[in-house]
Amino acid sequence: MTQQPVETVHALAYGAYPARCLQVVCEIGVADRIDDEPVPVGKLAAACGADPGTLTRILRLLASFDVFEERDGGFAHTVASRVLRDDHPMSARPLIRLTGLPMHLDSLTLLQHTVLTGEPALDKLQPGGIWAYLTEHPDQAEIFNRAMTSKAAADVPAVVGAYDFTPFGVIADIGGGRGHLLRAVLDAVPGAEGVLFDQPSVIEALTFPDHPRLALRPGDFFDTVPAADAFILMHVLHNWGDEQVARILATVRKSAAPGATLLVIENVLPDVHPTPAAVTMDVIMLALTPGRERTESELSALFDGAGFRFTGMTETSGTMRIAEAKAV
Ligand SMILES: C[S@@+](CC[C@H](N)C(=O)[O-])C[C@H]1O[C@@H](n2cnc3c(N)ncnc32)[C@H](O)[C@@H]1O
Repeated sequence: MTQQPVETVHALAYGAYPARCLQVVCEIGVADRIDDEPVPVGKLAAACGADPGTLTRILRLLASFDVFEERDGGFAHTVASRVLRDDHPMSARPLIRLTGLPMHLDSLTLLQHTVLTGEPALDKLQPGGIWAYLTEHPDQAEIFNRAMTSKAAADVPAVVGAYDFTPFGVIADIGGGRGHLLRAVLDAVPGAEGVLFDQPSVIEALTFPDHPRLALRPGDFFDTVPAADAFILMHVLHNWGDEQVARILATVRKSAAPGATLLVIENVLPDVHPTPAAVTMDVIMLALTPGRERTESELSALFDGAGFRFTGMTETSGTMRIAEAKAV
C-alpha cells in the first residue's frame, strides 16, 4: 500500500530514534553476544551491563526494521544484525559507533546554525574544525580512525579491482589514514613502493607492523607532500571547501613531475539525480566540515586550476568512483 504523505514526513522526523537505538546497541556490543541461537534478553543485558526491560524495548524497535528478531524467548540475529558483530568481515559496528559520537550528534543539533550562517556546525563546537576536534578528543579519534578502516574494508577491494596501479613505481596515499588502501595496492603491485602520508597524530598512532614496501610520512598536506609517480586522495577532498582543495592540489602539484597521476577517490556525484546516500553524505560534510560532495565537472575545474588535467573516471563495484588527472 502506498504511504500517506504524512507518514512519509513522520518517518523522516522520527528517524533519529531508530538511528540512536542502533548506535547505542553497537556501543554496548549487543550483536557480539548473539551467535546462531536466540539469547534471552536477561542474559544479553547482564553481558552488556544494560537494564533488561529497557534493552527489550530498544531491540524490539530495531527488530521492527529486521535488525534482530525476537523469537523463542530471546533475540536472534537477522542478516542485517549480523553485520553489527565485530568479527563480521564487513562489520558496520565502527561506522555506526562513529555516527553516535558527540562529534556527530552535537553537530546535528547545531545544523540550523549551519543553515543560517553557512558555518560548519562542528566549527562552533571546536575552533579549527574537525581535525582540531579529533586531536583534542583522542577517544573519539580512535573510533573515527577505526570507522574509516572498516568502511574501507568494502571500498578497498572495489578500488583495487577497478584501477590498474601497475604503471607506478612510487605511490603516495595522501591523507591515507591507517594505510588500508595503500597496503592493498602494494599487495596488488609487487614492484611498487608506497608512501603513507597523514597528520603526525595519525601516523604516530600506527602500531601494526609495517608493510616491507611502505614508508610512513607524517606531515601537513597544506605545506608539502612527498614526491611520487601517483598520488591517491581517497575521501580527502570532500572534507574541504574549494579554496582549501585548491591549496591541497597545489601542494601535490609541487611534488608531481609533469605526467604524474592524481587519483581522487570518493563518491563523485552524477550531475543529476544523486542517490539519497550520496546527498546524505553531502549534508554530513556540511555539518562536520567545510567540504562537500562534488560532481565530475566541479572536480575537473579544480584540477584545471591547480595544474592537473582530468583524464577520466573509473567506476568501481562499490560506491566509490576514481577521478584520474595528470600533472601538466
Ligand atoms: C576522511 S579521512 C580519509 C582517510 C583515508 N584516505 C580513507 O579513505 O579511509 C581524511 C584523512 O585526512 C587526514 N588529514 C586531515 N588534515 C590533514 C592534513 N592537514 N595533512 C595531512 N593529512 C590530513 C586525516 O587525518 C584523515 O586520515
